[in-house]
Amino acid sequence: MPTPEEIQSLLADAKFWAQIQSEHTWILLSVLPRLRPIYTRQLSSFQRKFAALVDNIETIELRWAQSPEQQEQISAQAAALIREAQQLNNEFVVLLNELITVYPETDMALLLKHMRMESQHFGQVLNLLQLALPPENQPLPPESIESFLRELIFWSRDQREHSQLLRTTLPELTANDRETLTGFERQWRALELSARRLLESLPIPGQITETIIAEIRRLALMARNLALEYIRFQEELLSRYPDHVPRFILRHMLKETRRFLEELRASSFFVF
Ligand SMILES: [Fe+2]
Ligand SMILES: [Fe+2]
Repeated sequence: MPTPEEIQSLLADAKFWAQIQSEHTWILLSVLPRLRPIYTRQLSSFQRKFAALVDNIETIELRWAQSPEQQEQISAQAAALIREAQQLNNEFVVLLNELITVYPETDMALLLKHMRMESQHFGQVLNLLQLALPPENQPLPPESIESFLRELIFWSRDQREHSQLLRTTLPELTANDRETLTGFERQWRALELSARRLLESLPIPGQITETIIAEIRRLALMARNLALEYIRFQEELLSRYPDHVPRFILRHMLKETRRFLEELRASSFFVF
């Protein structure tokens, strides 16, 4: 059975992604051109539901911390909430898929596919929670080299796509900004490819060598440095944009980069 700390950390993860999803609906409402009223209504409704999900997870987190003696009852409530969240998230992916067919133009399609990738990631967090909570109560798999590399691949792809998205959505970027963003895109891609190659070349679990561990630590350190540099650049961009929409998008992306950094620092492979 998972420890209360493990459940708490998964709940925090789910709350983070629920918040991200409610921001996604806001971004789509603000940037999708010629949005049909039916989609405006659906996106607004998802926005409310994801925001309510954030609140509900928070309530569970608080009760969990304040009344540990009622753990059984709170776990059952959490399990019901997570099932609803899975349903909501699946419905949102259906809407994203539909919108991808409405906006085949590359910029908007890239944005929608990016959000779909993050929704799928949220789905994985929810699935883990579902297994950890009753009636399953399954122990969580420990962090492994494979799981670490998969996370690294997800995040470096996520950050690489941010560079592309910022280049296409931010107005009035200077030639210098564009060049910097292309540079970040290249570096995130290189990191993603290195992690992918290492994952594909892994021998059977018993044969993990010191060389492989050293390579993973090197990638983790590279990721940390690149994320820090990327945060500084995004903060600098943020200081130059007075308008609400670009600021919201930049803050959203910064939130994701900071989350990546936190996860990296919490990992056992991050040693320096
Ligand atoms: Fe996002
Ligand atoms: Fe993202």
